[in-house]
Amino acid sequence: MYTDENDVKAVTKVIRRGSYWAIGHEVEAFEKKIAKFLGVRYALAFNSGTSAIHTMLLAIGIEGKEVIVPSFTFIATVNPVLLAGGIPVFAETETETFGLDIKDIEHRINPETKAIMAFHYGGFPSRDIKKLRTLANKKKILLLEDACQSLGASINGKKVGTFGDVACFSLCQSKIISTGEGGLLVTNNDRIYNKAKLLRSHGRVELAVDYFSTTKESKYIQAGYNFRMPSMNAALGISQLKKINFLANRRRKLAYQLSQALKPIKQIKTMQEAKGHFSVYQMFTIELPDQETRDKLQKHLEKKGIMSKVYFNPIHLMKIYQERDNESGDLMTTETLSKKVLTIPLYPSMTDKELNYLIKSIKEFDMNIYS
Ligand SMILES: Cc1ncc(COP(=O)(O)O)c(C=O)c1O
Repeated sequence: MYTDENDVKAVTKVIRRGSYWAIGHEVEAFEKKIAKFLGVRYALAFNSGTSAIHTMLLAIGIEGKEVIVPSFTFIATVNPVLLAGGIPVFAETETETFGLDIKDIEHRINPETKAIMAFHYGGFPSRDIKKLRTLANKKKILLLEDACQSLGASINGKKVGTFGDVACFSLCQSKIISTGEGGLLVTNNDRIYNKAKLLRSHGRVELAVDYFSTTKESKYIQAGYNFRMPSMNAALGISQLKKINFLANRRRKLAYQLSQALKPIKQIKTMQEAKGHFSVYQMFTIELPDQETRDKLQKHLEKKGIMSKVYFNPIHLMKIYQERDNESGDLMTTETLSKKVLTIPLYPSMTDKELNYLIKSIKEFDMNIYS
């Protein structure tokens, strides 16, 4: 994460105020700024991306219905489908931006399908998001976006999170901007917004005056959770949002330098932006020729004190999903891709020295095994 004194001041101000730590005016102010930044009517702040996704699924109602989901993602894209009473139907990954592959969706749609959950990987707009929108319209089902990793990414200026009927973002510490933990749900749909707002806070009808400052009795009109974002986090979110363009550009610059430096190594494939796409490079993921090389490179980097991680292992092969009729071989592209990817460090405060050390360490490895 990236922070400055303004962040500290913003949070401190709320703490020192000594009141409205919950349901403070910062929450609504943050939501309004996010809605404006994305160009949507409604944004709701949550205490995590997971609770935002959970609420999104409850708000559209998926009980007993199928939702087409990616397998190449973080598990929180899929678990909420189960928890909201739905049936996750896994589909393949395209190998350019690692989103859902449009070619593998249509034949999975049937009368039980309620929605497609698109996914924007690592700051990249999903290659097929517009085609997924068209398909969802044609089939009269909903398009949802797990845009948790891609706040600020866009296609020809249209931000990810605005293609679907409803979308979610995460503000956990690894994301382009962060509130420590936090999430967002965005939509243009009145009904989804109103339902999600009730679900977020005990099913309580919110009064003009906040709950903690009124003697008026509250109305509870459905079951709900406490998935609210605290006021301190919202204050931090407002402060972080001011930096988002700077942070995206800084990440893009580093990503460009890294891509250029790795270009001569023919065994390493880096992700490329499609025409008109704007990636915020929340992650920098490389693809190696095979699992053996990938694992060796990871060990080599570890010895050099460099952290790297596999994002992602296929969700359909996790125990709880194998127990639900998914098995190895179901999604060959996803399974093969998962064996070859490695996410290497890239963060806004990365110094030239750190970047050069990373590049040097990768080159050293390449020479060791290929010369
Ligand atoms: C793709 C994806 N979906 C959902 C989540 C869940 O977000 P959170 O950690 O804020 O609950 C994450 C978080 O990393 C994510 O990367």
